[in-house]
Amino acid sequence: MGEAGLGIDIGGSGIKGAPVDLDNGTLLVDRVKYPTPHPALPETVAEVVARLTEDLSGHVPSRSPVGVTFPAVIQHGIARTAANVDPSWIGVNVSALLSERTGREVFAVNDADAAAVAEHRFGAARGAVGTVLVTTLGTGIGSALLVDGRLVPNTELGHIELDGRDAETWAAASVKEREGLSFPDWASRLQRYYSAVCRVLWPDLIVVGGGVSREADQFLPLLDLPCPIVAAHLRNTAGILGAAALAHERRATN
Ligand code: BGC
Repeated sequence: MGEAGLGIDIGGSGIKGAPVDLDNGTLLVDRVKYPTPHPALPETVAEVVARLTEDLSGHVPSRSPVGVTFPAVIQHGIARTAANVDPSWIGVNVSALLSERTGREVFAVNDADAAAVAEHRFGAARGAVGTVLVTTLGTGIGSALLVDGRLVPNTELGHIELDGRDAETWAAASVKEREGLSFPDWASRLQRYYSAVCRVLWPDLIVVGGGVSREADQFLPLLDLPCPIVAAHLRNTAGILGAAALAHERRATN
C-alpha cells in the first residue's frame, strides 16, 4: 500500500469522503456519505465534515492533511463566490474553519480543480503534458486548467457569457434535465460553449466530467472541436481523489 490521504467532497446533496491510496488513486475503503444539511451554512456543513473525518481517521496517519472540495472559487482557502451555494460562504476561510473543526490541517479547493488533478494523476489525462481543460457538467459548469500537470486555479469558465447569458445557465447538465433537451439539442449548446472556450484557450485536450459523463457516447461524438474531447475516467470519486492528492502535494511544498 502507498501513502494514505483523506479526501472529502462537499456537494449540493451529499458530503462524501474516503481514505485514498495516493500512489495509485484507489479508495482504501468505501466512501462514507452524509446528506448535505439544508440550508448548507458554514457551521452546519463544518459539523458534518468533522463527523466524516472522525469516522475515517483510523485509516490515515493522524498528521496527514485533509483535502476538501467546495463548489465555488477558493482563493488561498477563502470562498469568493457562491453561484450554487449559500451566499453566507462568501469571505469564509473554508480551510481555516474546517481545520479548526476537524483538528487536522485542511486544504479546501474548488471542486472542478480537484477533479482535474485527479484525472491528471490517475485518470483520463494521466501524465498529460500541455494545456488540459477539465470541465464538469452538473448543476453548473465547473472548469479547471492544467499546464503540464500544474493547476491554474479558479478558472471559472462555466461563467463565460454566451448571447448575453451566463453559459452555465444555458448549457449545464441540469439545464438539459430541466428543459427536457434531447442529447443532440443539448450537444448543439455544448458545441457553442466549447467552441467559444477553444477560441480563447486552445487547449490540447478537454476532459468532460460530471455525472452525465457516464453517457458521454451520446453527446461527445456530436462535437466538432479543434482538439480531442474525452470523458473523465474517475466519475464520482474524482473530487475525493483530487482533493486528497492536492492536500498532500501542497503540504509537501509548504
Ligand atoms: C461554480 C464553480 C464550480 C462549478 C461546479 C459553478 O457555478 O462557480 O466554482 O466549480 O459550479 O460545481
